[in-house]
Amino acid sequence: MNKLLVINGSPRKNGRTKELAKYISKTYDTDLIDLSELNLPVFNGEDAQDDLQSVITLKQSVLHADAIILTSPDYHGGMSGALKNALDFLDSSYFKNKPVSLLAVCGGGKGGVNPLNQMRIVARALYANVLPKQLVLDPSNFDSKNKSIVDSSALSISEMIRELKIHSKISKQLLAEEAWE
Ligand SMILES: Cc1cc2nc3c(=O)[nH]c(=O)nc-3n(C[C@H](O)[C@H](O)[C@H](O)COP(=O)(O)O)c2cc1C
Repeated sequence: MNKLLVINGSPRKNGRTKELAKYISKTYDTDLIDLSELNLPVFNGEDAQDDLQSVITLKQSVLHADAIILTSPDYHGGMSGALKNALDFLDSSYFKNKPVSLLAVCGGGKGGVNPLNQMRIVARALYANVLPKQLVLDPSNFDSKNKSIVDSSALSISEMIRELKIHSKISKQLLAEEAWE
């Protein structure tokens, strides 16, 4: 079975992006990296950071995932610093040939698009196979009382996960075939 990983890109313990990431993790039985709990330091490129448990956990989780879902809040028209910082610990060896889906959570209005574009650019720089479908959720898409997502958004998320699983299977199959050639 293909292993999916969702990353909560919000540093806020009570943020909606975390609610979304937890919903995806629970509904689709994925692994979860929660940047509001991981306590990653600011990346400084020093070897000593490689020995930190938070860094090891991040690297191992991404390495062993077959497909990755990146989520970010819209903070001042961009992705969160927490997510960009986490991605700076990684390189293309963690993402090459892996499909990646993108979701942003905004405060309302027409937010979310710039974080999606930024995540797409950064994930491409990491050699990820970023899929075309992407989603923005705002507060009206959350059923916060029930710690869930409203039905219309839940449907969009299920279509996104389906696309991610299909691409993950294709990638794995093609790579396995190539190894036999
Ligand atoms: C520092 C900061 C900056 C924000 N800037 C924007 C913004 O530019 N556009 C927007 O739609 N929402 C903005 N928001 C609202 C968040 O996108 C909103 O809280 C959303 O729920 C996602 O953040 P969260 O996961 O941390 O809750 C901002 C929130 C914070 C804390």
